[in-house]
Amino acid sequence: MAAFGTVFTPEMIISHFHNNSWSQPELVATDSISLHPGAHVLHYSSTCFEGLKAFRHADGGIYVFRMDKNVARLAQSSQLLALPQIDGAMLQQMILDIVKRYAADVPNPPGSMYIRPTHIGTEASIGKAAAPSLESMLYVLLSPVGDYFAGGAKPLRLLLEDSARCAAHMGMVKSGGNYASALQPIMKARAAVQADQVLFCPNGDVQETGAANFLLIDGNEIITKALDSSFLHGVTRDSILTLARDRGMKVSERELTVDELLERAQKPGTEAALSGTAAVLTPVGTLIHAGKEYQVGSGQGGTTTAALRQALNDIQWGKAEDKHGWLVKV
Ligand code: PLP
Ligand code: COI
Repeated sequence: MAAFGTVFTPEMIISHFHNNSWSQPELVATDSISLHPGAHVLHYSSTCFEGLKAFRHADGGIYVFRMDKNVARLAQSSQLLALPQIDGAMLQQMILDIVKRYAADVPNPPGSMYIRPTHIGTEASIGKAAAPSLESMLYVLLSPVGDYFAGGAKPLRLLLEDSARCAAHMGMVKSGGNYASALQPIMKARAAVQADQVLFCPNGDVQETGAANFLLIDGNEIITKALDSSFLHGVTRDSILTLARDRGMKVSERELTVDELLERAQKPGTEAALSGTAAVLTPVGTLIHAGKEYQVGSGQGGTTTAALRQALNDIQWGKAEDKHGWLVKV
């Protein structure tokens, strides 16, 4: 299978914000857009995006997972970046329309159709370093995908980094600049200790990795950072916590320090995992901090992580009842 996110459907759907209103969404070829070289996004990073998935059920039906949450998060990101306000109902319809058009290209499980709504500031005005773009483009790309982590469910190695992923007030914005600011630490961690990901822990506070949220599972308790503006409020995180509550687990959304994490991680039976649309729920086997390696529990992932991942997939793939109303049929 091709690398995650490198294959696209031939068309995408796009709307332009111009003269204070959104244009009628239209289908266009995916391979190019026309942008002025002075476009706001290219200079001042007025860009945000979403990642959600559509799944094929055994009866052939195609379902999008928690679309309302992702659309609401894009609206919030757009607002925090001072981009034009998106029309949530219009975006939901754009997503359903493009997925329906390419329904035949949605892979069978364990594959899915990754959906990438993107909103960028297009006003050609290089003087607007401290002013918003009054024009923008909103488009929805589709990419049939398999596993994000090439090793499948192989437990990950995480390097704990004592710095922030991005500016503290921007963490909850799903914006390109946040990914750019995390790149150097991630590349260094790969080269130095063959880490798969960096777990950002500014001032000893366990936050998230470059592309997923972090969860610690200790017996019947699941622990993860409480929502604040410093990190991305993952839809998968919310889904996994809901499924954990459904199973009678104790969900603790609170601060988790590096010291507590390293201490608890080494106990037999402890598990850790990354949650995200692309990552789904991927076990973490090793934590690396200050030159030392700490095995998480058995180091091989654990049964609770596997069960929660399965419970999520079963809903997404139509094998379990969608009790929370998370799926929308296209
Ligand atoms: N944190 C970051 C930085 C991410 O890029 C992602 C992926 O989208 C997540 C967390 C998880 O978010 P979600 O579960 O909504 O995909
Ligand atoms: C996602 O899980 O949707 C992400 O954004 C992660 C990544 C592919 C950047």
